[in-house]
Amino acid sequence: MTAELISGTDIRKEILAELKAEVEDMKAKTGKVPGLVTILVGSSPASISYVTLKVKTAISLGFHEIQDDQPDDISEADLLALIDKYNNDPDIHGILIQLPLPKHIDDKKVLNAINPDKDVDGFHPVNVGRLMIGGDEVLYPPCTPAGIQELIVRSGTETSGAEVVVVGRSNIVGKPIAIMMAQKGKGANSTVTIVHTRTKDLASHCKRADILIVAAGVPDLVKPEWIKPGSTVIDVGVNRVGMNEKTGKAILKGDVDFEAAKKICGKITPVPGGVGPMTITMLMKNTVRSAWKHIEGK
Ligand code: GUN
Repeated sequence: MTAELISGTDIRKEILAELKAEVEDMKAKTGKVPGLVTILVGSSPASISYVTLKVKTAISLGFHEIQDDQPDDISEADLLALIDKYNNDPDIHGILIQLPLPKHIDDKKVLNAINPDKDVDGFHPVNVGRLMIGGDEVLYPPCTPAGIQELIVRSGTETSGAEVVVVGRSNIVGKPIAIMMAQKGKGANSTVTIVHTRTKDLASHCKRADILIVAAGVPDLVKPEWIKPGSTVIDVGVNRVGMNEKTGKAILKGDVDFEAAKKICGKITPVPGGVGPMTITMLMKNTVRSAWKHIEGK
């Protein structure tokens, strides 16, 4: 038996179609559309490609989109002033600062300067705190964990009472997805274990998982014998393991030995085409949410 593929590419299409309809409805009812500013400092090729995709997606949904590129040597004070400008711009509902920032800029200071009501990345401590409280308190769940949860729900995986094992404890993926899966609510109510580099027996924990979420950044870390038969496997790893000579594109590998794992688990996300496409999609969803919140004055 081969596992069912959970396609982030297909699920992204579904969600973007829903969001596009919502933006049209917003425009018809209020005359307004979601406004997103993307701020890119410097010229890292990876960051340029992420930002370009964010901008393209926002425009395709009918957003008011500002791409505000800044030079590598912008001062911290000037960047903070720019954020302040957008914090006070009523047509902007989401502020995205592409990370990483150059070394001379304190990224914590910059992220903390964003108005939490416009922090569609969900990285501001206020939004991290709200995520921890759960329920109606949650304003903007961070985009990659929110995308993972959507993949789990839309693939029809039961989460209530499920054993979820999260491999990795980063602030961007591991910690927030663990909290989200343990909360009360749809796509949650799970029993969650976080494992990491100091965990004594990774394999035995993973083997218990009805839902295994792997965000370790180590190619092929998870071996087939670590996987519970019939389980759902979400691979968050995006590891560049080489270059395709013909296309000049990076060869990507996940954190799970995909070819072997798909013979054992019930459902699995591929790399690429699994979690990856979901992050930008959820950024768009958070921006639409922010727009409603600002337009309706809630
Ligand atoms: N750089 C890599 N991933 C992300 C992300 O999700 N948000 C931002 N702002 N920068 C990133």
